[in-house]
Amino acid sequence: MCGIVGYTGEKQALNILIDGLKKLEYRGYDSAGITVVNENLQNLKAKGKVKQLSDLSSQNPLTGNVGLGHTRWATHGVPNDINSHPHLSNDGKIALVHNGIIENYSELKEKLQSKGYIFHSETDTEVGVNLIDYYYKETKDTFKAIRKTINDIHGHFAFGVIFQEDKDAIYATRLQNPLVIGLGKGENFIASDFTPTISYTKDFYLLEEGEIAKVTKEKVFVLDEKDIEKQVVKYTVDWDIEAAEKGGYEHFMLKEIHEQPKAVLDTIKDNLNEQFLAEEVIKNANKIHIVACGSALHAGLVAKPIIEKLAKISTETYYASEFRYTNPLINKGDICIVISQSGETADTLAALRHAKKEGAIILSIVNVLGSTIDRESENTVYTKAGPEIAVATTKAYSAQLSLLYLIACRLGEVKQGLDKKELLEEIKSLPSKIEELLKSKDDILEYAKSFNYAKNLFIIGRGLDFAAAMEASLKLKELSYIHSEAYAAGELKHGTISLIEQGTPVLAIATQATAEKTISNLLETVSRGASPLIFTNKELNLDIDIKTFKLPTTNDMFMPSLTAIPLQFFSYYSAYIRDCDIDMPRNLAKSVTVE
Ligand code: G6P
Repeated sequence: MCGIVGYTGEKQALNILIDGLKKLEYRGYDSAGITVVNENLQNLKAKGKVKQLSDLSSQNPLTGNVGLGHTRWATHGVPNDINSHPHLSNDGKIALVHNGIIENYSELKEKLQSKGYIFHSETDTEVGVNLIDYYYKETKDTFKAIRKTINDIHGHFAFGVIFQEDKDAIYATRLQNPLVIGLGKGENFIASDFTPTISYTKDFYLLEEGEIAKVTKEKVFVLDEKDIEKQVVKYTVDWDIEAAEKGGYEHFMLKEIHEQPKAVLDTIKDNLNEQFLAEEVIKNANKIHIVACGSALHAGLVAKPIIEKLAKISTETYYASEFRYTNPLINKGDICIVISQSGETADTLAALRHAKKEGAIILSIVNVLGSTIDRESENTVYTKAGPEIAVATTKAYSAQLSLLYLIACRLGEVKQGLDKKELLEEIKSLPSKIEELLKSKDDILEYAKSFNYAKNLFIIGRGLDFAAAMEASLKLKELSYIHSEAYAAGELKHGTISLIEQGTPVLAIATQATAEKTISNLLETVSRGASPLIFTNKELNLDIDIKTFKLPTTNDMFMPSLTAIPLQFFSYYSAYIRDCDIDMPRNLAKSVTVE
């Protein structure tokens, strides 16, 4: 979702900002813009990709050493040049970039209109910048103007602000939405995440909620939420620019699929002897709530039956966006497992806060250290997937699964006296089995080609295979725009089988004890004209010839980790042969910071 980058230093800001915006493209956006400070605040905006903005900037190279850049994922108003950020105040002397939503913007807009302000765009951000201007004119103080503005706002935001009257500085503040400050030598940065500035500095200050920072080339000065000066504590990132580049692969997604053996290995290595939660906490817990969105939710769906089997604790996995509205019965001492690659997903964060308020003990699984979910959780464990750039997750999902297996084993150990040794050995064997599966990509390309006519597709399975099918189906929709449905295999005949026509592809995942039942359900669709494909690790006795992809074997509980790999390739190649934008699918954002 929206990306912010800002630069103040000795160099020309323009190219640094454009380059930074390119690094932020993965977050998802539909227009982009920059402000560079010279005598005046100079703006350049373009609908579409950063490439368009970059082409525009080569015809009109803005000079100056301070500036802001923004990629916008439209919330208020269609993507166009006028609605793109940065937005300027009516007198053109203040520029604002914003990630988030000002929920009471209509009310604030009316107030400003009554004071004579005029609005050109449909955005809430233009209201934000004029409100800063209004308070700046009243107080003649940049910090006070920002503080009064954010006090008036309902919603959430990350702001980057430049005042022409203080033009060497960038001001930054945030509430719920991410913003970090890159600490360079003779230059400093602001950014939505580490990626745009990692080639300049690995040192960051992680801005806290409600803080306001003034960032100049020499200094970062921070006021806390009570306007008391705060010490700038440095956090150093442990990965470098190569991790966030394609390294010879055609797409980030392909690279990240190939990074899965390492992501899973590193995650397991780091957490093999982890306690996750104090023994007393586990002993006292009567219920586990898992909250997450998208693929992280699917990892949670895999975890539910495994935790119930090993630890015998009742476990529920919820869509984070629904959690607060369905009156979940949370008792003090329940455990809430929060799963999020980015650690910034607004719905997941809201669910975390709700569970916490109701007395649950939080255990979060995030990939981004220092993210909001990490900071708000009393217990966090990290997936060691490294930066994930492709919008559709692969390696972070796989790392989440392996961490959830380890958590389930630990819960089983404390609750049921489980001897987890054998299970841990099996989990340790997953990276090499995943490695082996990476060799299957050419076979999968052929399968994808054989379905290149498909507009609708079904993926069926039972139990853990159904959870795996849900993830496979999401991936296929995200990447290739093929309408696909994951179905509990046994449920298909209760209505949905009516959609099966001659040639409808039906993929069956059959890796559990229920494999034969799933195959019977598949055959019911074949009798009605379906074109089948099976993913299995079992020896099946089929009377007809059906294309079958043979998976390696592990404990049934851990099969979703292996099933995921060929199905990720299937989505990748289905998108590839349809010429889709694989790393940045239409309408999607990597980090979804609005509810
Ligand atoms: C977005 C992405 C999904 C992702 C979901 C959750 O919707 O498009 O691929 O699974 O967010 O993201 P998180 O960062 O919380 O894991």
